[in-house]
Amino acid sequence: MSKTFAAITGVHGYVPDYVLTNEELEKMVDTSDEWITSRTGIKERRILKGVEKGTSVLGIEAVKGLLEKTGTNPEDIELLICATVTADMHFPDTANLIAAATGLTKAYTFDLSAACSGFLFALTTASQFIAAGTHKKVIVVGADKMSAIVDYTDRSTCILFGDGAGAVLLEPSGEYGVMDQQLHSDGQGQHYLYMKGGGSFHPPSAETIANKEHFIVQDGKPVFKAAVSGMSDVVSKVMARNGLTNDSVAWLVPHQANKRIIQTVASMADFPIEKVMVNIQKYGNTTAATLPLCLFDWEKRLHKGDNLILTAFGGGFTWGALYLKWAYDTPS
Ligand code: COA
Repeated sequence: MSKTFAAITGVHGYVPDYVLTNEELEKMVDTSDEWITSRTGIKERRILKGVEKGTSVLGIEAVKGLLEKTGTNPEDIELLICATVTADMHFPDTANLIAAATGLTKAYTFDLSAACSGFLFALTTASQFIAAGTHKKVIVVGADKMSAIVDYTDRSTCILFGDGAGAVLLEPSGEYGVMDQQLHSDGQGQHYLYMKGGGSFHPPSAETIANKEHFIVQDGKPVFKAAVSGMSDVVSKVMARNGLTNDSVAWLVPHQANKRIIQTVASMADFPIEKVMVNIQKYGNTTAATLPLCLFDWEKRLHKGDNLILTAFGGGFTWGALYLKWAYDTPS
């Protein structure tokens, strides 16, 4: 029997209007455009301003655009998975809120949390439903309002993150789509990148607020090292077992956490930087949104049959690589 793959048949991205530049950050913390640019490659990031605007606002815009550009009837969507670590609320899931606002009345929906690897984990999960033949139209969203959990007095983290969302439509194909993947988790990573307060471990209290436990904490150096070795390892394994070389792969699509991490992973896999998607300078690290925002930014340059390697690393630790055969040429 022939195999069914989950093909991406559309992608859309959304970032909010407000641009937080390195120059503005220079006025908020003791930092400089030179330090941020040379250590991370980031020049600016987008921030969702306004009260009572959660991650769902970003996801809704991405999904609305996706439905419109693919001419998809919202009622035909059977499942929507939203990867996020900045859900609007503990419950209901942000995926439910996105579905309600975009007319997905027939879909069941859930959130998936794997930090910066969230989109890769969600894409893998969603693709199994298509490959199994039980679902025909599935949406995967990666969305994060990182500004909600960033401490803008901590110069080591506030320069890194931004807000954004991306969404892809998955449909069955006999030829294109998610061909293979390798994902990993290692709980030892909990000590290096976390947000301590607000969950059942330290429920919100005056004390957790005073101790700044509702913000991201990161020990950058061990995260940097683990990200480089984790992503390099899975990229080489996925490429080797699929007979891929850096000639036969059109694009490396890495999580956008730090330009130096991206450059090191690319060089370890012998990828010329011209074949690596990099947009970190515009958005910073948007966590679950980085990969779909890359696909969205590069959509017009992708061709049917292109081999893509997606890779990500995030809190947890979580990491992985995924081999995707692109399914369409963008109509001009
Ligand atoms: N501006 C100026 N100086 C800063 C700064 C900033 N924004 N942030 C930190 N520094 C200082 C530090 O205080 C330190 O000063 P010291 O030597 O006097 O103590 C110095 O710069 C070096 O800090 P360090 O943390 O060693 O820098 P780094 O080269 O490791 O870069 C990161 C820091 C965060 C950019 C880098 O470690 C990183 O990108 N890590 C991985 C991030 C990541 O991938 N996170 C998400 C996973 S998905």
